[in-house]
Amino acid sequence: MVRVGLAGLGFMGGTHAQCHAALPNSDLAAVCDPEEDRRAEFADTYGAKPFASLNEMLAADIDAVDICMPTYLHRQAVEAAAAAHKHILCEKPMALTAPDCDAIIGAVDKSGVQFMVAHVIRFWPEYTVIKDILDSGRLGNILWVSAARMSPPPTWSWQEWIFDPKLSGGAVLDMHIHDLDFIAWILGMPKTVSAAGVKTQRGAFDSIFTTTTGHPHGAVATAEGCLDMAADFPFTMGLKINLEGGSIEMSTRHTPSLLVTPRDGGAEHPDLPQPAIPSAGSAGTAGNIEDLGGYFTEAQYFVDCLERNETPSVVTPAEAKAAVQLCLAATKSAETGRPVSL
Ligand SMILES: NC(=O)c1ccc[n+]([C@@H]2O[C@H](COP(=O)([O-])OP(=O)(O)OC[C@H]3O[C@@H](n4cnc5c(N)ncnc54)[C@H](O)[C@@H]3O)[C@@H](O)[C@H]2O)c1
Repeated sequence: MVRVGLAGLGFMGGTHAQCHAALPNSDLAAVCDPEEDRRAEFADTYGAKPFASLNEMLAADIDAVDICMPTYLHRQAVEAAAAAHKHILCEKPMALTAPDCDAIIGAVDKSGVQFMVAHVIRFWPEYTVIKDILDSGRLGNILWVSAARMSPPPTWSWQEWIFDPKLSGGAVLDMHIHDLDFIAWILGMPKTVSAAGVKTQRGAFDSIFTTTTGHPHGAVATAEGCLDMAADFPFTMGLKINLEGGSIEMSTRHTPSLLVTPRDGGAEHPDLPQPAIPSAGSAGTAGNIEDLGGYFTEAQYFVDCLERNETPSVVTPAEAKAAVQLCLAATKSAETGRPVSL
């Protein structure tokens, strides 16, 4: 049994709490948040010991910390947890800058704890099935990738930190990172990143259009991300991949969501894994997700790694840093109007 302390009890904290509560080998033993009503609600719902700060929680009897705090606090939270010799699951993005990522990796390496950044798309049913199809080689090489992720502005953000690009990195580091990380996962790192975007009044690129070229096998990828859709526009994830041997489309607006069309004919709707997660409670969840499956599989993988004393390998710290670097390159390109070489 892994005793987990959950730090940050907002949208993601509520999501992760439900996953830990549903896992047979995870004990949500402690929670922390500066907001008294939130920690009281989580303590009540999950039977976890409430703390007002991470530092107080780190002195408790826990094995691991699950960090769901606003992005600008990730570095100091990971450094504190690593210094306290707790294993760490940290929400994406790892941090806001490359030096902060390096500091995090250095702190984790020094303490020797297990560490994973929660890039949930690497656990999301549709994306994992697509990755398996690509890895099988049955459709040949990838020619191009087009990814999309669109959401209305979050309504739940604590003190509206999400809208300040200095605190969140805007839609690029908060949301677009999922698609840039997926692109790097299936194509390897690009040599060049070009982007254009539309800024909010607070200076965040909350709409961003990125093209990556110079991937190891020559494919081109493009991704659009928007955290500024109309309030009634449904949260949407989309992906098209064209390969030598066929075409793949995924859209959360389609049922079934995944279509595979080999060039030699036919249309397939592959079965998707169905993680068994009961509804374990609703404390804190106020965001835009309808399906806990990917989050459950992610938490399950992390906790299983700890129980087996294995280093998590689905998302490595170097890959999580690379995803941040892709976002920073996209932001720089959008700012300057020039491609950025990596
Ligand atoms: N993987 C995903 O799909 C996904 C989705 C949304 C957000 N996120 C990431 O999760 C993180 C949190 O985002 P969110 O939407 O849950 O934010 P949120 O604003 O809903 O919640 C943040 C919580 O952190 C608490 N907090 C603030 N300072 C704290 C401190 N010093 N110690 C402990 N708790 C503190 C706040 O009180 C609040 O409860 C961000 O890094 C974000 O990018 C990931």
